[in-house]
Amino acid sequence: MQLHCPVCDLQWPLQAPLQYVCTECHGNLEVLYDYDSIRASWSRESLQGKPFDLWRYLPLYPVEQAIQGPPVGGTPCFQAPRLAKQWGVREVWVKNDGTNPSASFKDRASAVALQWAKENDYPTVAAASTGNAGAAAAFWAAVLEMPTYIFLPETAPPAKVAQLMACGVNVLMVRGTYDQAFDLCAEASQKFGWFNRNTGTNPITREGKKSVSFEIAEQMQWDPPDVIVVSVGDGNIISGVGKGFDELLKLGWITKRPKLLAVQAEGSAAVTHAWKQGTAIQPVSSNTIADSISVDLPRDGEAAVRAIRNSDGWAVTVTDEAILQAIPELAQKGGVLAEPAASAVCAGMHEAHKAGQLQHDWRVLLLVTGHGLKDIGAMQKSVGPPPSIAPSMEALESFLRNSHNLKQE
Ligand SMILES: Cc1ncc(COP(=O)(O)O)c(C=O)c1O
Ligand SMILES: [Zn+2]
Repeated sequence: MQLHCPVCDLQWPLQAPLQYVCTECHGNLEVLYDYDSIRASWSRESLQGKPFDLWRYLPLYPVEQAIQGPPVGGTPCFQAPRLAKQWGVREVWVKNDGTNPSASFKDRASAVALQWAKENDYPTVAAASTGNAGAAAAFWAAVLEMPTYIFLPETAPPAKVAQLMACGVNVLMVRGTYDQAFDLCAEASQKFGWFNRNTGTNPITREGKKSVSFEIAEQMQWDPPDVIVVSVGDGNIISGVGKGFDELLKLGWITKRPKLLAVQAEGSAAVTHAWKQGTAIQPVSSNTIADSISVDLPRDGEAAVRAIRNSDGWAVTVTDEAILQAIPELAQKGGVLAEPAASAVCAGMHEAHKAGQLQHDWRVLLLVTGHGLKDIGAMQKSVGPPPSIAPSMEALESFLRNSHNLKQE
């Protein structure tokens, strides 16, 4: 196992203290495995009888052992025929990662990264987060009994802050943006020797995130979908999804790579701009209701653009209004409750449909990355309050007559 810079082709051993970025170009690194030896000693058949969680693919993670604790990954993957019909595609699938222990996709990254930190004797963990990565780090820090500091921007939704506090870690609300919290966490980790789990610059997080691709492939009988729709903030999830399919191709377990459709909020679209214009990532001043994808400078943006291109995929942007409307739509037609960053994938499909970018014979998978109850405020905003009535039949009948055209018998 080696750390590799995909730009300079330099390599480092994967060991503590962890090399976070390339010494030449300061770009993010990736973990490379000895795929020939893995292929020789491991097959799809060897998965039989193993529990359906992310640890079943252990030879493709940089850790020795699975965490003995709550299952992580192994999330439901199911069809949503109403969505397939409305977008005129063969199939729509939903991968509901809101069912993870801390209710978001980020458990995949934190479980693997913190297990690596534990196995490599780091005494303390730190992370900056828009909310979910911190909540996941806090959850797995509690499982592994590791002292942990989490840096959050003040704008993090209250439910995410509360769940972090429940995990008993040190939570610091930074009076600034996510990007400022990110930089402070990196500087403190450097100074105090903490394991910095920050998304993007920590090469292990992508190793956990790629697990979703293994699961999707297996849940779809090793015939992956044509398109996977992924919401993008820092760009680490989408680069992880891409790496997962690349590795399955290297092992010969699948024969095709799904196209990745990246969805960003209009007010936080640095990756989409770079992909469209063919330029390096330029920071934006982000502004969106989807807090989890509200990012000025995507910390894994270059890898995200590479993953989109490598998959022959594309990127779209969506408005906050469309993101909010997609919350009840996914609840009604998709069988899933999604927070705004996750409902964005549904809004992105509307955009792609409107632009005539979808093919009728495609099987499309929506990666739903965070549970709807993570951000009650956004869900309330998307649907408004229900009507209220007096506790009498008279009041009910009057309501039904007025609003539902109830005819008197
Ligand atoms: C629910 C949810 N969706 C999408 C994302 C975007 O992931 P990334 O920042 O790796 O692009 C995040 C990241 O925090 C998230 O929490
Ligand atoms: Zn480099």
